[in-house]
Amino acid sequence: MLIKKPSDIKPSEITPESVFRNRRQFMNDSGKLILGAAAGGLPAIASAQSGGLKAPTPIGKGVSNAPAWWQEKSSSIKAAPDSEPYYTGESLTPYDDVTSYNNFYEFGMDKRDPSTQSGDFKSDPWSVEISGEVAKPGVYNLEDILKPHDLEERIYRLRCVEAWSMVIPWTGFPLAELIKQFEPTSKAKYVEFETIIDADSMPGIRSRFAIVRWPYREGLRMDEAMNPLTLMAVGVYGDYLPSQNGAPMRLIVPWKYGFKSIKSIVKINFRETEPNTTWNDLQSQEYGFFANVNPAVHHPRWRQDMERRLPQTLFSRQVIETRPFNGYGDQVASMYSGMDLARYY
Ligand code: MTE
Repeated sequence: MLIKKPSDIKPSEITPESVFRNRRQFMNDSGKLILGAAAGGLPAIASAQSGGLKAPTPIGKGVSNAPAWWQEKSSSIKAAPDSEPYYTGESLTPYDDVTSYNNFYEFGMDKRDPSTQSGDFKSDPWSVEISGEVAKPGVYNLEDILKPHDLEERIYRLRCVEAWSMVIPWTGFPLAELIKQFEPTSKAKYVEFETIIDADSMPGIRSRFAIVRWPYREGLRMDEAMNPLTLMAVGVYGDYLPSQNGAPMRLIVPWKYGFKSIKSIVKINFRETEPNTTWNDLQSQEYGFFANVNPAVHHPRWRQDMERRLPQTLFSRQVIETRPFNGYGDQVASMYSGMDLARYY
């Protein structure tokens, strides 16, 4: 993110609200049409299953490396409710864009690198270390962590600090449930996350030009981590999470800039003090610990009051207004009451 050119969004390019879709059925249909077009008309799109148990817009491609636990758990994914905040009627970003325009610097710095350079990455078997201020520390197999949790779908906006955004149907479960499972002590005020370092399968880690100090780290205050919006995602579009999107398990914090949503998590540490985080460490003037989406506080290279909703087309740049907390203010603003958000950005 440090190395990109400034974006150049003019106020005249704001797209009216009319681009938004209100009804899920409409969204499903248009999503399938877009996906069909993107797939070159191949009959890869399965129709949404009835009964509300499956994701509303399965793409039906199936991710080839999905582990056995996914096969079992994905048979009963609870669909997103028809109302905000766990659902939005805005058009979904097509699967092909969600999985080919990525930031995952462990695989390289170009947006295409994560999808083209992650072929050797193995997300199964997988274990996660739980440590720090917690009653049940240890190294756990992912299957054991997931066992008690039902999977559900959440359709969230994802807003990157680089001023692009997507609307993505994630499959996962609330981070709050995972936290309760390991029983944090009263001293646990923050949760810290780390991504795997696997130099063999991650060319970005081997690169001489890497700007990140590995492992990629992120953190949340405990109330943010416990907020019902905060999701541990293991799937997208009703399918197992592709490597480029952070398989096998990543964080999704929809009211914060995308860099908080750390991928391929191998460590969750409960702490009394605020953890160091990757982008804040690299450039604290530009990337804060909180990183709440805030149209009033601009990044030196990207203005934050507007965003490009992907995919853009030749005919429409799809530039829309960015909302405070990415439109999730009703659910999260109270956690920051009394804080100067220009200082704690
Ligand atoms: N997690 C790790 N481990 N490494 C990364 O480079 N990039 C972040 C975040 N999580 C990143 C990461 C950034 S900057 C963004 S915008 C989102 O992932 C992008 O998620 P997506 O590629 O699934 O859209």
